Amino acid sequence: MDDMIYENYKRAGKIAADARNYGVTLLKPGARFLDVATLVEKKITENDAGLAFPVNIACNTLAAHYSPRHDDPLTFKKGDVVKLDVGAHVEGYIADTAITVELETHLYDTMIQASSEALENAITVINPKIPLCDVGKTIEKTITSYGYKPIENLMGHGLGRYELHSGLSVPNVGALGGKMQPKDGDVVAIEPFATNGAGHVISGAGSNIYLCKDSIKAKFIRDNKTKTMFDKINKHFGTLPFAQRWFYGLFPKDDIAIKKLSFLGVMKHYPQLVEAKGGMVTQKEHTVIVREDGCEVIT
Ligand code: CO
Repeated sequence: MDDMIYENYKRAGKIAADARNYGVTLLKPGARFLDVATLVEKKITENDAGLAFPVNIACNTLAAHYSPRHDDPLTFKKGDVVKLDVGAHVEGYIADTAITVELETHLYDTMIQASSEALENAITVINPKIPLCDVGKTIEKTITSYGYKPIENLMGHGLGRYELHSGLSVPNVGALGGKMQPKDGDVVAIEPFATNGAGHVISGAGSNIYLCKDSIKAKFIRDNKTKTMFDKINKHFGTLPFAQRWFYGLFPKDDIAIKKLSFLGVMKHYPQLVEAKGGMVTQKEHTVIVREDGCEVIT
């Protein structure tokens, strides 16, 4: 990895970590999801980094993929198990990190510990000499040793320039991920999830998180207004996911157009990912640069 790219990753990592830690201080019963997301995103942009994706806030049985709407009424309650997932980029080089916080109660301390220790152990074992399924095995072993299940259909992922999911997958169980091995200089987000439920997630309602997915197909949109809107959104957000809040800021009251773009298949609306049996879910995530002899954590 050349020095410039490395410096960009280091900066993105520091900014994402600072924003995550700042976000934790805002998580209190009565606080609004919307305020937390907005303030954490502001922290990232104030530090001259870009938003790699909208701040994700997932509570309790929701594992991932929720970002508040511009008018979101949700507030935190005592006892909520909150996953705060934050991404920053510098020149397109992305750092992705997440933490779980239980608000004012301690019913899920060991589950929080399970995903956290699974991440630590994964960081200890990952290197270019072992297949990623072995990293999954380590995560699975750690989480099951606490009496919980890893979520098997959520995976860590390689990070590319302006690309949130590139090439590699880092499984949370030993049976997935195959024999693929990371290379020196690969950047990956490792994110173990633990649950007392089924051990997999299913798709729920919309997350308010979108992605422009097919700019070729978009050339064939007949309605001019819709086409112009797609072009504007695509120019603005490119290959990275964006929030309804951000879109709303660009084109007030155009929820209907974005629904149409999703319907046409040129825009993806991510679903919320909910634990299949309604289990509680914890998560911890760091971004690492794989090195010959291990890895460097940048978040
Ligand atoms: Co993440």
